[in-house]
Amino acid sequence: MSFTTFDQATPRLQRSELAVPGSSPQLFEKAAKSQADVVFLDLEDAVAPDQKALARKNIIGAINDIDWGKKTLTVRINGLDTHYMYRDVIDVIEQASDRLDMIMIPKVGTAEDVYAVDMLVSQCEQAMGRKKRIGFSLIIETALGMANIDAIAKASKRNEALHFGVADYAASTRARTTNIGGPNPSYAVLTDQDGDAPRQLHWGDMWHYALARMVVAARAHGLRPIDGPFGDFSDAEGYRAAARRAAVLGCEGKWAIHPSQVALANEIMSPPEAEVAKAKRILEAMEQARKDGKGAVSLDGRLIDIASIRQAEALVAKADQIAAG
Ligand code: GLV
Ligand code: MG
Repeated sequence: MSFTTFDQATPRLQRSELAVPGSSPQLFEKAAKSQADVVFLDLEDAVAPDQKALARKNIIGAINDIDWGKKTLTVRINGLDTHYMYRDVIDVIEQASDRLDMIMIPKVGTAEDVYAVDMLVSQCEQAMGRKKRIGFSLIIETALGMANIDAIAKASKRNEALHFGVADYAASTRARTTNIGGPNPSYAVLTDQDGDAPRQLHWGDMWHYALARMVVAARAHGLRPIDGPFGDFSDAEGYRAAARRAAVLGCEGKWAIHPSQVALANEIMSPPEAEVAKAKRILEAMEQARKDGKGAVSLDGRLIDIASIRQAEALVAKADQIAAG
């Protein structure tokens, strides 16, 4: 290990992150009763400008009055380039109860963006005598944010999670695509000509770099990487595939922009039982190896060593966290 270490963020289950527009209070109760690990009440892009003030009132009322059970409760504020942002922070922190867990900051571009919100949140918290520290979820969804991702990840002790906001990221990088979070047939390679054999088009994942980059920045700084939206909510298999490739890279959760996606996210972001069972066997085998004074042994015909312990421990710890709810 390096001599430089970062604290791990406050542990939370964040497999599914259900987005609920603040301007649609009729959806709040249903969201509270859903199986989502995290609900984010939105003041930003799902809310029209003339609805912002009403959405704030709705959200404050919902935080104070609805029974959210064990869910993590987040409010997505507006971006720092708008005049809504300061009032979002001030009204929510001054008027909402301690039930609020996190604030989600969209379109973070620089570490200073996080610093500015941190300062405002800190002042409001202090003035109100709030005891529970509000955490930050940061959406990386612009080219600038991606370019500054490491500095952003370590910009505040409140930081808990980085999210990949694929829709805005596509807009910011001028990616030639209009779907949200799905694959693109134009991002593909064509196999070489080989006589008369038919050539094949292999689709790639156009978001691979961005997602992998975010996972590295998040993990390097003790934060949870969370994959963003998948727009086609009628395509459950497409969602599963998108979530699975994010989970394989190290993401802990994925957004649900429709209630039907919550169960899919929970399913894919929970380690499969067979993998957990295998991880437990690895730990047992390595414990035996330790007793025998060996650093590496073979299990089912494959080499396992001390690095395998860390992988297995992470998997078992995640399964335990899920079991604890
Ligand atoms: C989320 O905010 C996105 O832009 O994908
Ligand atoms: Mg966005």
